[in-house]
Amino acid sequence: MKINKNYENLEQSYLFSTVAKKVNEFTAKNPDKKVIRLGIGDVTLPLCKAVIGAMHKAVDEMGVQATFRGYGPEQGYDFLREAVKKYYLSHGVELELDEIFISDGAKSDLGNILDLFSQDNTVLVPDPVYPVYVDTNIMAGRKVVFADANGENCFLPLPDKGVKADIIYICSPNNPTGAAYNKEQLKKWVDYARELGAVILFDAAYECFIDDNSLPHSIYEIEGAKECAIEFCSLSKMAGFTGTRCGYTIVPKALGKLNKMWLRRQTTKFNGVPYIVQRAAEAVFTEDGQKEIKENLNYYKENAKLISETLKRCNIWHVGGKYSPYIWLKCPNNMTSWEFFDYLLENAQVVGTPGSGFGKNGEGYFRLTSFGSKENTREAMERFEKLFM
Ligand code: MLT
Repeated sequence: MKINKNYENLEQSYLFSTVAKKVNEFTAKNPDKKVIRLGIGDVTLPLCKAVIGAMHKAVDEMGVQATFRGYGPEQGYDFLREAVKKYYLSHGVELELDEIFISDGAKSDLGNILDLFSQDNTVLVPDPVYPVYVDTNIMAGRKVVFADANGENCFLPLPDKGVKADIIYICSPNNPTGAAYNKEQLKKWVDYARELGAVILFDAAYECFIDDNSLPHSIYEIEGAKECAIEFCSLSKMAGFTGTRCGYTIVPKALGKLNKMWLRRQTTKFNGVPYIVQRAAEAVFTEDGQKEIKENLNYYKENAKLISETLKRCNIWHVGGKYSPYIWLKCPNNMTSWEFFDYLLENAQVVGTPGSGFGKNGEGYFRLTSFGSKENTREAMERFEKLFM
């Protein structure tokens, strides 16, 4: 056999695995020190009542002959796709049921979707960016070019007509910077993609942090987007499903063959999300579910506010936290991202994510998440004040 040599072009380990390894080494050496983890964007609040109720009910159904379910439809049960359809309608977006595909999360689909595209496509990725977009394309041997996101463009790069690309990644609100595009800015990307005949892979995993309609929740709020964009979303951050696993991908029929190809791909390589999880996900979109998840999202937003206020007092430049769970800060004293990571771990036992792990433009920056508990976030910020005030 011959191995896929493209793997040799990857960083040795996935960013969050490297961070976890460093933290584990530290705790092994310092078992008495309390480490506060504000690194990986993993939720801490439990699933809400509506979700747990639906899940219990579904578990009981699975134990009764008459309501037991075996294999489900690979693209998801209609009850959940109907719920997602209604959710999109609340943002003014009309979808057909067979444009909605239920998945086990955005990360898997963002990687899997690449099955549909030829290897000789050029991929345009903003820098800094969620490492999955880059790594999955390196694994497939595709050429990746970058759109610079930096302080000058408020971490929201716009298309450069001189750059030709076939596959374009956009994440808004953005991971890692928390910056979010408005409709006019997104329209520029849609126009650019249509001019080039390119496809936009739009990651909407953090849209739930936009609590008004001033910014687009979905790229399909932009005219022409159905002809050029596939959208990925997840219940991970929206409803605390990081361990429960459920998301959805929208492949509009206006994209031509891609809708049928994705169905073909999923029916061949995927057996669907468990019935119990899909019932839990359906409950997220009920009135009670929406009310309860908003309470949880507000809890995280309060944490973000606390982090931002502390950083202000410490005179540390930062953005984000408003439309996302991430606060993106400039490392104090001109430290590199990894220097700051080590410094913070050693001196405050606070874990964040080094900005350079998201791309070259992330060097000198650092990401904190608001997904910790209120108590831990407060304690972490007290430790920050001691170090930097
Ligand atoms: C992050 O910390 O960037 C996210 O949790 C990663 C993910 O969603 O896979």
